[in-house]
Amino acid sequence: MRIRKYSVSDGDAIENIHFETGFLGRSMHELLSNTALWSREIAYYLEKEPESIFVLESKGVVVGYLLGCLDDTEMNTAALFLTTRIKNFLQSIFLSRKDRIFWRSQFLVLLKIVFGSSGERRFNTPVNAGHFHINLLPQVRGRQYGTKLLHHFERYARTHGVSCIHADGYQTRVNPSMNFWLTNGFSEFSRVPTRTWERYLPEESISLVCYSKLL
Ligand SMILES: CC(C)(COP(=O)(O)OP(=O)(O)OC[C@H]1O[C@@H](n2cnc3c(N)ncnc32)[C@H](O)[C@@H]1OP(=O)(O)O)[C@@H](O)C(=O)NCCC(=O)NCCS
Repeated sequence: MRIRKYSVSDGDAIENIHFETGFLGRSMHELLSNTALWSREIAYYLEKEPESIFVLESKGVVVGYLLGCLDDTEMNTAALFLTTRIKNFLQSIFLSRKDRIFWRSQFLVLLKIVFGSSGERRFNTPVNAGHFHINLLPQVRGRQYGTKLLHHFERYARTHGVSCIHADGYQTRVNPSMNFWLTNGFSEFSRVPTRTWERYLPEESISLVCYSKLL
């Protein structure tokens, strides 16, 4: 197992892992058949900041990634989220029923966010900070590789003058990754209730949590 910098040829593997882990650590196959629209969620990192991506490789196969962004202000997360979700909703009319239902449900969540019944508008993240997304395929979880990948990014961010990083994720019974953040020196910066997965997990109480750490 080794950690290395991203190269353009890793793009498909990263999009595949993003799809295989997108549903609270589980595969999006349960909800979607078309992968292309889902991949738009991470296009910014692959296109605009590939130098801040690290991959975990096992026998020549990419099995995990960390998508980094050194400066949040470079990436207008809210605007990107809004435009991507609207675009996906509109384009999904050409896709299968399953996909149309998913993107329509996400568009309805967008309206719930805008009108305040899903808590994202109260979600806070640190200013002048970097952030990242980390995802490992199920078969390599729980063996300290996530921690190693994170340390790699922390060293990289520090050498680029970043003094604070954060990661935002969903906390639920289904994917209780909170210990990962606390064990690795993060603390909870903000937490809001979200209705993002309500259609698919109506019994779950799910929060969107920002974990932050000073480097
Ligand atoms: C979260 C994730 C990146 C952690 O990487 P990992 O290699 O599995 O974690 P590590 O082995 O380095 O674990 C470090 C610590 O975090 C804790 N931890 C990790 N994942 C956990 C989970 N799902 N639930 C509870 N604790 C967890 C472990 O207890 C471990 O501490 P310990 O060794 O003292 O017991 C990985 O499990 C993953 O990709 N999960 C699915 C997707 C996800 O949740 N991504 C993050 C959302 S932003």
